[in-house]
Amino acid sequence: MKKIIFILSIIIVFIFIVLMILLFNINPNKKNNTIKETSNENVNEFTKISYYKEDNLERYKKYKSNNNNFSNEDIVTRVNLNLDKDFYTDTKPASNLNTNYVLVNKFNYLSSDYIPNNLELLDNSYAKSDIYLVKEAKDNLEKLINNAKNDGMNIRIISAYRSYTYQKNLYDNYSKNDGVSIADTYSARPGYSEHQTGLVVDITKAFDDFNNFENTDEYKWMLKHSTDYGFILRYPQNKEAITTYNFEAWHYRYVGVELAKKIKASNLTFDEYYIRYLDTN
Ligand code: DAL
Ligand code: ZN
Repeated sequence: MKKIIFILSIIIVFIFIVLMILLFNINPNKKNNTIKETSNENVNEFTKISYYKEDNLERYKKYKSNNNNFSNEDIVTRVNLNLDKDFYTDTKPASNLNTNYVLVNKFNYLSSDYIPNNLELLDNSYAKSDIYLVKEAKDNLEKLINNAKNDGMNIRIISAYRSYTYQKNLYDNYSKNDGVSIADTYSARPGYSEHQTGLVVDITKAFDDFNNFENTDEYKWMLKHSTDYGFILRYPQNKEAITTYNFEAWHYRYVGVELAKKIKASNLTFDEYYIRYLDTN
């Protein structure tokens, strides 16, 4: 009799446990599942973004945990730009060479022997001697300077295409004088300057110091009209964390008229726009 009572109580306890599990969904793994679902939600948020890269998933999550105030779009953009890494680490050769939308920055470089196609010498009425640009950029810049002149603006070119060796001498001098970390805020290391693309121009109000360009009417004119000629302000104010360079009022990058207008309308830097709409890797 005792044995029967014992077996019956075991059966009753068993039925009770099964009922409890069914009724209250008491599941020993439930806590883990919740954690899994939450992290999957984050993953799904990133995967919805068209320029998300699966290889970068862990980096998005880590970057998000350190920068909770950024939107997921900004997280993906910045990580794809490698801004979660130290400058000049994990660098790779720039893609889309000899196109107007080649991206050169502290993570994408040009080889020491890269010389752009179709470099042409500018007439010295626009600049001091030995200034070269890619033909399409040169033609548009000449138009820009001539039309600016009609509006009473006096724009002069101070630097354009720079070879690898020229940039090396420049950077070596700057870093010798100011130290590497300061030099890196305003000068690119050789191979990492977009001046080597032949699509970039530094300008000033004629015969004025280029450091004063941001205070001139010529700069205001450029902000209004440069994209009509295919040029964008490449290192804008308050975007230093993305461009990795100090604001440069004098440095303009040719990307072609259509793209320049789209970039300006987007309010993004070229780096961000590239990741979101032009990156094919
Ligand atoms: N000043 C710009 C960043 C360059 O050196 O290319
Ligand atoms: Zn420049």
